[in-house]
Amino acid sequence: MAEHTVDLVVLGGGSGGYAAAIRAAELGSTVVLIEADKVGGTCLHRGCIPTKALLHAAEVADSVRGAAHLGLDARLDGVDAERLRAYREGIVAKKYKGLQGLLATRKITVVHGRGVLEPGPAVRVGHDLYRGANVVLATGSASRTLPGLEPGGRILMSEQALELGEIPRRVIVLGGGVIGVEFASLWRSFGAHVTIVEALPHLVPGEDDVLSKGLERAFRKRGIEMKLGARLSSATQSDDSVEVVLEDGTSIDADYLLVAVGRRPVTEEMGYAETGVELDDGFVRVDENLATTVTGVWAVGDIVRGVQLAHRGFAHGIAVAERLAGRTPSPVPDHHIPRVTYSDPEVASVGLTKAQAITQLGEAAVVVQDYNLAGNGRSEILGTAGLVRVVREVDGPVVGVHLLGARVGELIAEAQLIVGWEAHPDDIAPYVHAHPTQSEALGEAFLALAGKPLHAL
Ligand code: NAI
Repeated sequence: MAEHTVDLVVLGGGSGGYAAAIRAAELGSTVVLIEADKVGGTCLHRGCIPTKALLHAAEVADSVRGAAHLGLDARLDGVDAERLRAYREGIVAKKYKGLQGLLATRKITVVHGRGVLEPGPAVRVGHDLYRGANVVLATGSASRTLPGLEPGGRILMSEQALELGEIPRRVIVLGGGVIGVEFASLWRSFGAHVTIVEALPHLVPGEDDVLSKGLERAFRKRGIEMKLGARLSSATQSDDSVEVVLEDGTSIDADYLLVAVGRRPVTEEMGYAETGVELDDGFVRVDENLATTVTGVWAVGDIVRGVQLAHRGFAHGIAVAERLAGRTPSPVPDHHIPRVTYSDPEVASVGLTKAQAITQLGEAAVVVQDYNLAGNGRSEILGTAGLVRVVREVDGPVVGVHLLGARVGELIAEAQLIVGWEAHPDDIAPYVHAHPTQSEALGEAFLALAGKPLHAL
């Protein structure tokens, strides 16, 4: 067995792991990054990036369909699944090459193989042992399955849905969370008949009610069917279709069933528990600095309980690397992490929902301001409906911002600064928003909260 000793060993080369590796190298550490598959992980190869490429193609398809309304003669003649795949793979390949370049430039040693944590701390890959003054665990998450709904044939998880070599004619989506809603949206844009089955009463149930209801209205208008508050009783597949029966006896037939009921942390069979790393329902138990129960072993990203988002992984990785370099990075609270669902319309939010604010602060201490995008010129031009909701504490800071509408994901940057800096509406209302932009809708909400609405009553 060969032994190698470095400052930092990172197990897992996804968003959290490579961010820790890059930041540690920038701060002067020698770093080994161990990855069983490809650096970039789920987000780059099977998640964020390829799905957003498909969603962009879906947006273009809808734009072409709606072109006549603008006086443009254009016709959507079809969707070529093979060329769509080539476009998506091209985007991923470029980003993959870029990431490999970044790692090489920073002299990070990438080891290809499956790592297992050992005392020391160290990570074993085959016959090689990599000892680090510190080890960062960043092994990510995988799609959760339900008994009887294992992927295969007509039953897909998001990974297989992405690789599907055809546009399904009819598809059932189990789970109306982020993944379910994004796939429902893009398949509908490509012409599929889509039915979403969601166990809770609303789509994207973690979001403010006003966004869930607005999204449902928009999806209904787009012809997406929804069975809300519905539970699956059985799913039976044949060679060319799948039949889903709900607990109320409703039966639905489709070409495919996508199962999108959440993701589980990947923490098994990698020596974690055996080395003394405490787990809690599969998640790694950490303190506020992301230290595990074993000295010198840290955890970042989706294996830490909380919102499973790539940018949270980046923030975790950077924070751990800085702490190891003797700095005192600010903690990364989950409620400061922006969330975007890239459906049509988009859903974006940061901070507390109205309901959460009322639970935490009491009803009398919460003020909510809604601004309808119907009053926003740029949104009218884009032909999108939606709204901005701002939640503030009475005489206090903005604690939540919630957005619905085409392209509103890009507006979350301003909202996250406001929530993160605990800004008061009076302080931010004077800042001017360019006209005509969708960001004006945010400005209008702040003006209204500061008692001086302009394009609102
Ligand atoms: P999710 O937790 O967002 O949604 C799962 C949904 O399935 C929930 O609404 C839940 O009520 C429902 N559900 C669970 N069991 C069910 C059952 N038996 N029958 C019907 N409905 C059931 O998880 P999802 O959509 O799988 O996404 C996984 C993770 O990936 C999320 O944490 C998400 O944040 C992340 N992700 C983020 C994206 C983004 O930021 N745009 C895009 C895709 C995924």
